[in-house]
Amino acid sequence: MINHLRSPSVSSRLPRATAIASTLLALFALTTACVAKSGTSSIPTLEKNGAQAHLMVDGAPYLILGGQVHNSDTSNPEVLNKAMDVLASWQANTVEVPIYWEAIEPSPGHYDFSSVDLAVNAARKHGLRVVLLWFGTWKNGESQYVPDWMKEDQAIYPHAKGPRGEVTTTISPLSTAAMEADARTFAALMRHIKSIDETQRTVLMMQVENEPGIVNTDRDYSDAANKQFDAAVPGALLTYLDGHRQQLSAPMAATLSHAPKSGNWTQVFGEKAPEAFSAWTISQYVNTVAEAGKREYALPMYVNVWLIEGVERPGRWPSGGATVNVLDVWKAGAPVIDMLAPDIYYPKFYDVASQYTRPDNPLYVPEANFNPYFAAFAFTTFGNFNGIGFNPFGIDDVVTKGDIGAAIGMRFQDTYNVLRPLLPLIASKQYTGKLHPVLQGLANGEDWKQSVRLTDRLAANVDFTAQFDPVKGRAAGMIIELAPDDFVVVGTGFDVTFREMQGPLRDAELISIEEGTFQGDQWVRTQRLNGDERHVSLPDHSTILRVRVAK
Ligand code: DGJ
Repeated sequence: MINHLRSPSVSSRLPRATAIASTLLALFALTTACVAKSGTSSIPTLEKNGAQAHLMVDGAPYLILGGQVHNSDTSNPEVLNKAMDVLASWQANTVEVPIYWEAIEPSPGHYDFSSVDLAVNAARKHGLRVVLLWFGTWKNGESQYVPDWMKEDQAIYPHAKGPRGEVTTTISPLSTAAMEADARTFAALMRHIKSIDETQRTVLMMQVENEPGIVNTDRDYSDAANKQFDAAVPGALLTYLDGHRQQLSAPMAATLSHAPKSGNWTQVFGEKAPEAFSAWTISQYVNTVAEAGKREYALPMYVNVWLIEGVERPGRWPSGGATVNVLDVWKAGAPVIDMLAPDIYYPKFYDVASQYTRPDNPLYVPEANFNPYFAAFAFTTFGNFNGIGFNPFGIDDVVTKGDIGAAIGMRFQDTYNVLRPLLPLIASKQYTGKLHPVLQGLANGEDWKQSVRLTDRLAANVDFTAQFDPVKGRAAGMIIELAPDDFVVVGTGFDVTFREMQGPLRDAELISIEEGTFQGDQWVRTQRLNGDERHVSLPDHSTILRVRVAK
């Protein structure tokens, strides 16, 4: 079914503009590498200005156009390098790579950072930056990656218990010994990263833990946990929630709407009490770990979230993870964490992105479904939500999953090829109202048309050139306003008509349509389109057009 999406070779399918863009990018990468070698770059930071946030890298806003490798790749250099080959061929700029606690601390206090060096060196070799994922106490709501010596010593590192006293596969968030061990090792990891990367700054951010929470129970039911659960909710949490009433997530606002201002967990949070309790204990644990790491090397840090999908109960998803129900508990419990970041496998990408885009939480998508129609959401992340990064999960499927993997990869490659040269421009236009994303099927019945208001004077009528097909992907792109009469139109699967909105209804007079790309902030034209080609049309592969309209 998917075979027809394949074309004979990747390079033969690339438009000329993209080939030129590749050369220019290579030059750009070289220049960046020279700057990095001279040791002038500063540590990446998440710079916040009111409700705006930018990831600053080498002194400029940086958008992560990345991808995540499979969980076990870091234990095999060949596999890891092949996965990075995929990202490099897409023109991605960043790779997300897991680092395993069990690998770096084989016996207590003895560290082996070879897997970290492998990840960083492989990224450098591929011209990629890297986000490292700390698989510490938590991995998908369990404790699979803690070292063997911890797994074998549950007296010192107790696991959470379920309601019938059953022992779970998750270390208890109340275990001070586990928390201190995790914090100590994470600190050592950050110290090591600083020692190998202070000059080049290949490592951009850290993901602290992976989808923390507890699976198969809504909270820890150990005696110690029961005692805390029956006691009063800590004042620090109540004060935070009360002081941030205007910005609470909708489910939290609903939970608290009839709640007393104080009381035990059940009195304050009602049926959400076990999830809120888990979120509070886990967020504080993670905060301690992140704080210890930042003391050594203060990279931006985020926590990823296994989302609630459909009708489920906490414990089906890792209870206590930063779901929309308890996101505000995390904000109170883990102030050192810069972002709570949704792993979006769920078709309602837009809805989830809306929930995780707040003045106190810029959108970062550490994992998205590696599915052809998710490629479009890169435009959505950067354009609709001013997001700082987008990463499909398991990108090595391109080389390991035969035709299906290759076909999915083509779709991401097509999108990434045009987005990469535009990233500095897009970053500079975020929060200005000059990015106008196009997305097929955003609202019901919008499979054929979208109308976009560009300026006071101009609108864009977008016609999708084919019906939305989940296998092929959906039409998507962006119209970027460079000036009131000057636009970049990028994407695939749609035509655009510029319309005057003042005076009699009519099409705007077009001065020129050019195909090309950007080199830094310089437009590089590859072809001027006129005569039979005088259309703003981006039908079947991603293209960058520049359209000038009469003043
Ligand atoms: C989400 C996790 O965070 C990843 O590590 C991986 O397990 C994926 N799920 C698999 O779909």
